Amino acid sequence: MRDRGHVSVVAGGQWGDEGKGKIVAYLAVQDEPEVIARAGVGPNAGHTVRVDGEDYGLRQIPCGFPHEEAELAIGPGVLVNPEVLLDEVERLSRFQVDDRLIVDERCAIIEPKHIEAERASKHLSDEIDTTGTGCGPANADRALRKAKLARDVDELSEFLGDVPGLVNEAIDAGEDVLIEGTQGFGLSLYHGIDYPYVTSKDTTASAFASDVGVGPTRIDDVYVVFKAYATRVGEGPFPTELSREEVIEKFGEEILEVERGTVTGRPRRIGEFDFEMAKRACVINGATQVAITCIDRRFPDAAEAETWHELPTEAKKFVEKVEEAVGVPVTIVSTGPELEHTVDLR
Ligand code: IMP
Ligand code: MG
Repeated sequence: MRDRGHVSVVAGGQWGDEGKGKIVAYLAVQDEPEVIARAGVGPNAGHTVRVDGEDYGLRQIPCGFPHEEAELAIGPGVLVNPEVLLDEVERLSRFQVDDRLIVDERCAIIEPKHIEAERASKHLSDEIDTTGTGCGPANADRALRKAKLARDVDELSEFLGDVPGLVNEAIDAGEDVLIEGTQGFGLSLYHGIDYPYVTSKDTTASAFASDVGVGPTRIDDVYVVFKAYATRVGEGPFPTELSREEVIEKFGEEILEVERGTVTGRPRRIGEFDFEMAKRACVINGATQVAITCIDRRFPDAAEAETWHELPTEAKKFVEKVEEAVGVPVTIVSTGPELEHTVDLR
């Protein structure tokens, strides 16, 4: 009998926007898993993937779509906004997404009333400063056992399936599976340092495995992704936050333009890399490997490097410092938005 397939989970180690989209797309194209399954909260996430010079912003479809042979699944734990999903299917038609997408029939649905409720709630919109995508109210309805499920939505019928069944059968048949998480450690409903300034679900690797229906004994690798500095959108404590002046001095003025929310367009708060939080994120996620992104924004001479040798000394020192602080090997360093701008040390 063939050995079972390899299962990897990708999780964010900060407050989201670590560049998971690029890392997932890279792993998908490089490692060619047969199934790529989206986990996480729902369309509050915004991931950007650049393929051949073109940027694709995604909120529902797995970021591994550039690997065109893979099946693309959305696990039952994920909230689905049918309008957002169908729009992405259309925008990604070049990649034959409609032929390979499977949405679990048990995904809970975000309805217009959830978005309205979020906007009308001062607590959510103003105090927590949520994304306005209806995720919190939809997860609340789900917990109250009154949410609509994907199987109740006609427009989704052609995509419906049993994602946990499919994923586990794939693993048994020796196929590899890449599980894609969203948000980040600092936004976890359970593990974020600063409840209530968090999202509406746990956002660590165990939750992502559960979101797609894979048991903990079947996970082989957990990649935790960190940006080479920290950002946060929305309210809440940010221990290493820098002032606007400090940001410009340290990283240059351009970074203020780049660091805007994919979903909301809000400017992101920017700060120093938080080594202590990174360590905790690695522990609680059970990290086996670490990926560092946007190293070129911190060390411009690192831009577009493809080998360790090409990285400037300062960038190498930073990578080594992260590795020492978290006690997990840094195996992937992203040096630019294109997939080939990646140093793969695995
Ligand atoms: P919600 O997830 O829309 O309820 O928002 C809760 C908090 O999580 C807010 O501070 C949001 O800005 C933040 N958040 C949710 N999703 C993301 C994400 O994908 N990237 C960055 N921040 C996020
Ligand atoms: Mg994002």
